[in-house]
Order: sequence, then structure tokens, then C-alpha cells
Amino acid sequence: MRVFSGIQPTGRKHLGNYIGAIRQYVESQERAQAAGGDSIFCIVDLHATTVPYDPAELRERVYDTAAILLAAGLDPERCILFRQGDVVEHTELMWLLTAVTAHGDLNRMTQFKDKSAQQRELVSAGLFLYPVLMAADVLAYKATEVPVGEDQRQHLELMRDVAQRFNARFAGDREVLVVPEARIPEVGARIMDLQEPTRKMSTTSGTDEGRVYVLDEAKVVEKKLKRAVTDSEDPPRIVHDRGAKPGVSNLLELLAVARGTSIDEVVASLADARGYGDLKKATADAVVELLTPVRERYGAIRADEDALEDVLAAGAAKARAIAAQTLAEVRALMGVGPNVRARA
Ligand code: TYM
Repeated sequence: MRVFSGIQPTGRKHLGNYIGAIRQYVESQERAQAAGGDSIFCIVDLHATTVPYDPAELRERVYDTAAILLAAGLDPERCILFRQGDVVEHTELMWLLTAVTAHGDLNRMTQFKDKSAQQRELVSAGLFLYPVLMAADVLAYKATEVPVGEDQRQHLELMRDVAQRFNARFAGDREVLVVPEARIPEVGARIMDLQEPTRKMSTTSGTDEGRVYVLDEAKVVEKKLKRAVTDSEDPPRIVHDRGAKPGVSNLLELLAVARGTSIDEVVASLADARGYGDLKKATADAVVELLTPVRERYGAIRADEDALEDVLAAGAAKARAIAAQTLAEVRALMGVGPNVRARA
């Protein structure tokens, strides 16, 4: 097995990123190692250039993101952690894969529709091609599984189509590009905004009050959860029903994930609760317990930028060794560049 996932170095990482993705990365790292496979994690700085951004800040955010991933438990001795822009093979493979990507499919991507509607000045071509770069990220490594949150499901489906179309068109249906599986957690794949629980917690929309950041102090986490929007059902009922009770359901999911138990178990544990206040308090305690060790480790890791660059550079060297092989195969099958085999 080979695991691959990517994360954008934009904004501040929130509880949705942590629960939907980062904790799964750490779990996959352990699982891959136990199975004799490997795990690869990429900070996707090139994806971050598809919407307006500040170049100096982008560098800083890459360090922030790397430090969070390391603080959360990724271990460069056991996984490959690198920065996308350090491995040029991603961008070349992306271009080659545009040959087997349907324009109409890219036009249907909900993330493209949402993000292009938010742009005031320029909808960049990069925003449109974003999912092809994402496909290249994964396919370059012939990864078998991709841990992500629910919002990436459509991109994963597109990447599977791209791999299949490449294999059919250029490889006589051999699985030269491995068709990867999405690994989306059963609970916590779509953490909702605390103030607007019908919208996902997101870096680009919503307010600070609706998001818990991975690096928030305990007091801040408690305050945000205390003010979380629930509902006005009287008497209050603590049940999981995303449609009718989105706020309460979101808190129950957070609590279940943070405690490492099931939703049924957390509901049972709150059987004597006097109202939503108890649910919020229990969730705040569990989330603080989940995030505190990460925040405590973060400071020292983030402070040493040279060490972070070393980790990323070592990761990039390992990543490139794999991606370059795939790219050579793809170039040869597509008839691009010199005929390496004929000259050898
Ligand atoms: P990004 O950086 O937006 O988010 C990183 C991961 O966090 C998950 N996530 C959530 N999970 C649960 N609830 C939420 N509210 C929530 N918000 C975000 C995302 O699903 C994601 O797994 N396009 C990707 C980055 C990427 C990538 C890749 C991922 C680039 N190349 C290759 C996988 C494989 C993205 O923007 O993630």
C-alpha cells in the first residue's frame, strides 16, 4: 500500500482539517509502516497560487503547516513529507494529464464553481486546472489510498477517471497509473462551522467564531464551543440527526472523534445532561485534550525554520526519486521527448 495526501498552506489550520485529514495522516503513517508500505504527505504551495495570495506569506504558511503536521505526529523517519513546489515532476505530469482530462468535467467541479464565484478580479486558469494538478500529485506516486475529508470526494473521482482514461488511451489498459481509493472517515469527514452548522468549517468562508483553530488556546476553544449554535427544541434533545439538528449533530461528531468513541456512546454518556450546555462543555473538554499536545509541541518546531527546510528538502529528494520514474514512463507512453529506449 502507498498513502498520499496533500494539504494547502493557506490560512490557519482548523479543526475540520485536523479531524477530517491530519489525524488520518498520522494513522495512515502507522498503518503503512506496519504493512511494509509507505506514506507521502505534500504541502501544496502550487495549489495555493490559484487564488490571490502574498508570496512572502506563502513561505511562512508552508512552515506553519509543516510544523503543525510534525507536531500532530508525522515523523520524517517514517513518512515522506515535502513541499509540492520542490518536485517539478508534479507540474509536468499535470500538463501531460490535461490530455486525458475532460474540460466539461473540470467545469462541473463544485470547488471550482464556489471559488470562482468568490473571485472579484480574476478567475485564474490555475483555479480551473486545480484538480488536474491534484491528480498529478497522487498519480505521480502510484498511490493506492488518499486520506481526505468529504469535500475532496469529487476531486478524487475525477482523478480516478483521469488515471483510467490514461491507461485506456496510452497503456493498452494496463494499470500504469494506479487508480487510487479515497479514504474518507465515517465520522468527522465534514466538520461544520460552529456558528453556521449547515456550512462546512472552512478557511475561506465563515467567521473566526465559527472555526476552532488547531493552535487556539484552551480558553479560546472553550469560548467558541460555548457559543456554538445549536437549536431551540424544547425540551432539548441530544440526538444525532444532521438534517433536523445540524448544530447538535456537529458537536456530537466532534465529541465522538475527540474521545475516540462512537456517536452512540457519546449520546449514551449524555443521557443525564440537563441541556446543550453539558454537551458543549463535554465537547470543549475533549477538543482541548485533543489539541493541547499539538499546540504544545508546535512552538519549538515552528521556531527552527532551518530544521523545517531540512525536513522538506530531504522529503523532496525521496519524493522526486519516485515521481521521476512515473513521469519517464508517462512521457515514453505518450511519445513526448526523446526516444530514450531506442538510444539506449
Ligand atoms: P485543504 O488544504 O483545503 O484541506 C486539507 C484537508 O482537510 C480536509 N478538510 C475537512 N475535513 C473535514 N471537515 C472540514 N470542515 C474540512 N475542511 C477541510 C480536506 O478534505 C482535506 O483532506 N485540494 C486539497 C489539497 C490537495 C490534495 C492533493 C489532497 C492537493 N493535492 C492530493 C489529496 C491528494 C485541499 O485543498 O485540501
